[in-house]
Amino acid sequence: MDSSERYVEATAHPTIGIVLLGGLSDPNNRIPLHGSSGIAYTIKNKESVARTRISLSDKKHVYTFNGKEIEESSRSPIALIQKYEERLKTKYRTEYVNFKSENQDILSGSSDAGAAALGKCIQYLLPDEDPFSMENNLRIISESVGRSLYGGLTVTDVSNHGTRTRQILNPEEFGGYEITAFTFPHERRPSDDIHFNIKKLPEYPNRVKNANYKLIELQKLAEKKDIRGIFELAHNDTEEYHSLVEKAGVIIITPEMRQLMKEVDRIRKNIWCSYIVTGGNNVFVVTRNEDSETISDKLRRRDVRITKLIVAGHPKITSSNI
Ligand code: MEV
Repeated sequence: MDSSERYVEATAHPTIGIVLLGGLSDPNNRIPLHGSSGIAYTIKNKESVARTRISLSDKKHVYTFNGKEIEESSRSPIALIQKYEERLKTKYRTEYVNFKSENQDILSGSSDAGAAALGKCIQYLLPDEDPFSMENNLRIISESVGRSLYGGLTVTDVSNHGTRTRQILNPEEFGGYEITAFTFPHERRPSDDIHFNIKKLPEYPNRVKNANYKLIELQKLAEKKDIRGIFELAHNDTEEYHSLVEKAGVIIITPEMRQLMKEVDRIRKNIWCSYIVTGGNNVFVVTRNEDSETISDKLRRRDVRITKLIVAGHPKITSSNI
């Protein structure tokens, strides 16, 4: 960084779906076809974050992600920065708006974190920007960005005007629970394989109805602070979602992941626990804090990495000289 450079840096947490999103309007606008829900998470005793810096300088453009220069594309943060660039240049009398972002200790859900950290920086620089229009601009980078923007447990509603996310429980309410991620050693498939195939199924209109209905249920559970009920609902949603995803020809749950899930189903007859699988190579097993070690020992296997996670909050400004 040169000494004249002005900057703002923010961090945001990655996410896990609770009522899973499947189906987007089109590759450019990426408008979800139904409401969904999620949580933000961090690895226990670590900071799982996307760390993003916007700097204003009179030197040339620099756009980097994890230390490498990034290209312009419809889902790239460059397209988002360009939407705000003229206003930033006028307000801060600068030639260039630079961007640098790094992922730190993230298992999945990183694009929500990256988009939310960038949004936090822009909101800091342009505080009059409407949060609703900000969320809808950021959605182009990541359709479930609202989960990371608000943290804790969130619901994202969809209307003709766009998406709007609200937090329905803060992260502290999840203090009695731990999420153990079992990461399998295969490459994940792009989520767009799900989004663009699931909506072709004849069962899809019913899925849209069910997902929206589950959000009403979730709201009631949140009001009662029924954390177990929330993760039971997530468990059932994982089952409904992946049976449809598989019908659409997209296999996310490999036989090895399914085997572990069956073991969870056996264990949960005696000790409460539940699972979530989103679009990647993780099985997330939710337990009460006191049962976490016993249950992960029962599920432990070779070549599967185990990581303990907890629910996390909203993005933060970490430093700035503006
Ligand atoms: C998000 O766009 C796609 C999935 O991860 C499901 C979810 O988290 O809601 C596949």
